[in-house]
Amino acid sequence: MAMTATAEHAGRPAPQRGTLSPEPYRVTGRRLEGADVVTLALEPHHGRPPTFAHGQFNMLTAFGVGEIAISISSAPGAPGPIEHSVRDVGAVTHALCRTPIGATVGVRGPFGTHWDVDDIEEGADVVMVVGGIGLAPLRGALRDLVDRRRSGGGRVFVLAGMRSPDQILFAEDLEEWRRSGAHVAVTVDVGAPGWQGPVGVVTSLLPDTPFDPTHCAAFACGPEIMMRFAARALVDRGVDPRQIRVSLERNMQCGVGLCGHCQLGPLLVCRDGPVVPYGGVADRLFMERQR
Ligand SMILES: Cc1cc2nc3c(=O)[nH]c(=O)nc-3n(C[C@H](O)[C@H](O)[C@H](O)COP(=O)(O)OP(=O)(O)OC[C@H]3O[C@@H](n4cnc5c(N)ncnc54)[C@H](O)[C@@H]3O)c2cc1C
Ligand code: FES
Repeated sequence: MAMTATAEHAGRPAPQRGTLSPEPYRVTGRRLEGADVVTLALEPHHGRPPTFAHGQFNMLTAFGVGEIAISISSAPGAPGPIEHSVRDVGAVTHALCRTPIGATVGVRGPFGTHWDVDDIEEGADVVMVVGGIGLAPLRGALRDLVDRRRSGGGRVFVLAGMRSPDQILFAEDLEEWRRSGAHVAVTVDVGAPGWQGPVGVVTSLLPDTPFDPTHCAAFACGPEIMMRFAARALVDRGVDPRQIRVSLERNMQCGVGLCGHCQLGPLLVCRDGPVVPYGGVADRLFMERQR
């Protein structure tokens, strides 16, 4: 897998229309995932949505409230509307989660680097370590990888950490991927009566996961501390740090590398991230933030 931190070399699609001012999109579908996450299906008022790559994000506007970064949770090229899955944590996410079908939101993007699934070596195992809503930016990539597995591609391992059994996000997708031959393991922070699965942090699933560390690509997405521990645990299992990707989160404003709000060390996360290699990039940034 060829790796580099910069968007310039990441081969992502160039910004298209709707880069600096939001385009109006109609909400054509809403689905509740767990207790506080809503997946919105969006279609542009005019024309077709711009092309995007796995793991890129859009800036979504709840008119009169504000604009925030949200990853695209559907797969590029999938038929139908594009999807975004939003956790209700504050003013803008709350407004987006409450937006009814038929209403309009603003969409600007797509922005950022992507999960370079097309560069994964043929036949290599793919390990996804996700925490909660961190599954959203990997959902489209997982759909494609599971499809490829069906036609002879490498094995797919999904390790997901969720808050509690009633807050398992994308439960239907996880089940479908499992049925389609992916190894899917879910652990929860807090169990509940009837929960037979593991309880504990997502990294506790790694020792029992039978992937080949010498021939694999790994992707981690979730809270920063989770990604830090996940990446270290993967390296301890023998995975080459340069074969691990993480997705960084910072406060975004312009989304196009102009305002500096998303600066993290030498990176502008909106432009050089959110997806960056662990080896040589995120490992240094994580260490810097620990000091
Ligand atoms: C590249 C990128 C992709 C993202 N993708 C998604 C996505 O797919 N789905 C999604 O739900 N969110 C995603 N986020 C996070 C999302 O942008 C924030 O949750 C949002 O900006 C919060 O705005 P707000 O006005 O609702 O809340 P605010 O009023 O800004 O914050 C409300 C409370 O939530 C806390 N908070 C803010 N941001 C976060 C966060 N990221 N995680 C945990 N707590 C937070 C604040 O500290 C505060 O306590 C992404 C962020 C980035 C940078
Ligand atoms: S959000 Fe403005 S530079 Fe990144």
